[in-house]
Amino acid sequence: MTSVKDFRARIFMLRKFLQITDLHLGVGLAAGGKAGDLREREVRRRFRALVAHMGRWHADAVFCVCLGDIAHRGDAEAYAFFKREVSRLPFPCRVLLGNHDGWEAFSEAFPDSIEGGFVQAAVEDEAGVFLLLDSVARGEGELLTHIEGGFCEARLLWLREKLAKYAGRDVFVVMHHPPCSLDAWESEGFDGAGAFRALLEGQGRVRYIFCGHYHRPLSGMWGGMGLSCLHSSVSHQTILPSAGQNEEAGRYRYCDEARSYGVLWLDGERVLLHHVFYEGMEELGYAEGVIRRRENTAQGE
Ligand SMILES: [Fe+2]
Repeated sequence: MTSVKDFRARIFMLRKFLQITDLHLGVGLAAGGKAGDLREREVRRRFRALVAHMGRWHADAVFCVCLGDIAHRGDAEAYAFFKREVSRLPFPCRVLLGNHDGWEAFSEAFPDSIEGGFVQAAVEDEAGVFLLLDSVARGEGELLTHIEGGFCEARLLWLREKLAKYAGRDVFVVMHHPPCSLDAWESEGFDGAGAFRALLEGQGRVRYIFCGHYHRPLSGMWGGMGLSCLHSSVSHQTILPSAGQNEEAGRYRYCDEARSYGVLWLDGERVLLHHVFYEGMEELGYAEGVIRRRENTAQGE
């Protein structure tokens, strides 16, 4: 039987990484709203609550990564707000580019996230190597973003080099766009998906692909690799309808489903992604075989 001491030792062997995504800071202002816009205030209040929650419960994380769409319209003020809030965390917060982010303000706010002209990095850890990828397809003559994802030759070359370098290590890919359709109907495209998959499957030991963009929590497989998506951590979520229902409403439908963030635990054997719903998470007490509200328990009721 596992003793309490052994159990604690095993927990501490796990390496913890946090994932947040699709904040869309500024979404309440997009339709001409003002700074005091109720929706915007809510999104920012939630982000502060999210940061406080991560700091309280997961201060032992190695790092947090935001998987893109930090800003809804790529404005500098949103990035300044983001940086100010995450500076309170006891661990670093890395960033990826999303299709709503604007290159100019993003690259000014996060110059250290750029390598070779793209928002990409290889982060080594004892649990494996994280390849943080820039999956935003660029339009001709511009660096602002398109909803579709994709890789160009330069990014595929960078990826090929990293996979070769880390061929003996467990590799975890982190990117904004999922590289494949995630639902039952025709989804948005991903330029170069075939070459990307061939590269991932042909070289190295890619164990899992973590994505944002979809605004829904999901886990599955793509080829032989694990694949997951997350809720938006503070903003709107995508409704998952039956096939055909989206055409009635244009493309996507959104809702105010509860927000969550990801807690990833790795130990060389397990890849465990927990979804944490940080709002309305009232801790319960346990006394005399009854689970009840903690304040009542504390008062001995
Ligand atoms: Fe998004």
